[in-house]
Amino acid sequence: MLCLVILFFSIFKTCVCEIDPLLLHRNVSSSLFFERDELGTCYFPPFCEMDLTQCNIPKVFVDDIDNPSEFPVIIQFCRNDVNGEKDCSALYRDIIRNESGQFTWDKIISEVRSTKDYERYAALEYSHGSVYDRAQTIDIHPLKDRDRKYKKIIESIAPPSFLSEIDIFNDLIGYLTTSDSPMMGNKWVIFGTTGMMSHFCISAYFIFFFCGGAHYHFDYYLTSFWNLVLSGSKFWLLTAPYDTLKLFPNETQLKEVMNLPIYNFFNDIYPTIVHNEISVPYYHCLQEKGDMLFAPPIYYHSTINVEKPLSVSRNLITEYDYQQTFSFLTHWPSLLSEDVDTHQNVGAIQTMELCAALFHYHDGMFRSSACWNKEFLHRLNALDIDLSQGKESWNLWSKIHKKQNSQVYVDMCNNAKKHPFFSNFWV
Ligand SMILES: *[C@@H]1O[C@H](CO)[C@@H](O)[C@H](O)[C@H]1NC(C)=O
Ligand SMILES: *[C@@H]1O[C@H](CO)[C@@H](O)[C@H](O)[C@H]1NC(C)=O
Repeated sequence: MLCLVILFFSIFKTCVCEIDPLLLHRNVSSSLFFERDELGTCYFPPFCEMDLTQCNIPKVFVDDIDNPSEFPVIIQFCRNDVNGEKDCSALYRDIIRNESGQFTWDKIISEVRSTKDYERYAALEYSHGSVYDRAQTIDIHPLKDRDRKYKKIIESIAPPSFLSEIDIFNDLIGYLTTSDSPMMGNKWVIFGTTGMMSHFCISAYFIFFFCGGAHYHFDYYLTSFWNLVLSGSKFWLLTAPYDTLKLFPNETQLKEVMNLPIYNFFNDIYPTIVHNEISVPYYHCLQEKGDMLFAPPIYYHSTINVEKPLSVSRNLITEYDYQQTFSFLTHWPSLLSEDVDTHQNVGAIQTMELCAALFHYHDGMFRSSACWNKEFLHRLNALDIDLSQGKESWNLWSKIHKKQNSQVYVDMCNNAKKHPFFSNFWV
């Protein structure tokens, strides 16, 4: 767990070196992004000095894998046929349905974003965006189960069965579809322009992370994830949980690194990780069409778009790691998470709902998780939160019943056990 950080030596002091503003704001076409100009000068040094052919993540063709790995792995759905052509039939056979042609970069962006946003993306990609401008086109877009707009896209993506068999996150979310908690998303579509980096600002709901770009990060709830590139390509860097703490032993330093803009990360940090004298393992690789990257929980990662990518992704809570997820959820930092805009608590409520859903799903798993221990109940009671979420009916109800938070929670769990569909049991 993160709290058991042992202080290792630090390899380097984080140096946030100034990047020449002329380079940062120079317009570069997408095709030249990783290249040098006529004088042999890099358009943007960190990117042109990267060796994109380097790869130390194992690649396995989908038919040869039936277990998730303890380490990052790339599951391939395309391979070269006898004529040397890329054959992606396994991609269409197993994962995506694209008869309607919806999985193209342009179509997806215009479907999930506003026209204005799409025009901004297209202008930067097809004309001349600068490194700085491109870094602003960040999009990890949630495919919300509760929003009809996404239904067609969600239904056209089928995760590989060996992963959905061990995943319980999707079952829990499925049960909670009547809830409106903001952080219940497990499905994503990810896109951006060449040169920009995909990132997800986890800090919005977890107050112990900072917003404004948690670029190098691990996924919320300590979930594992898969990410499948449908078109274009991107380059990944990943570090294992303990190795990350060896690289950045002090918390302030790690937070600083997590907050770096992508160009700073690849300018200052990536080279030191790749060329470090005392070897701390890392994973890096170019991910292309039909490559599905699977990463176990708490693998920190950062990516850079090499050719305008379109990918789809899912977070998983698996049978192997659900205990650490629920342990994370039921501890203070997560319980205290607030919505940045409304300052309303979201952490405690989400945790209660996810625990209730776990009880509905499997009471054995519930009992062996942190959802079912005294400390969690004490923590809930110590919380001074408004479980009503502004709903009038609650105030009256709670006045009459004078229930402690833990009692509300236990009632919720019992209700969840009885009901095939979840509804906000406390209002
Ligand atoms: C880059 O291109 C945009 C749009 O084409 C233009 O408005 C901007 O002035 C250019 N920036 C530089 C530094 O040339
Ligand atoms: C989906 O179909 C469209 C139209 O035929 C095509 O342009 C696009 O490349 C396809 N996407 C994938 C991921 O194969």
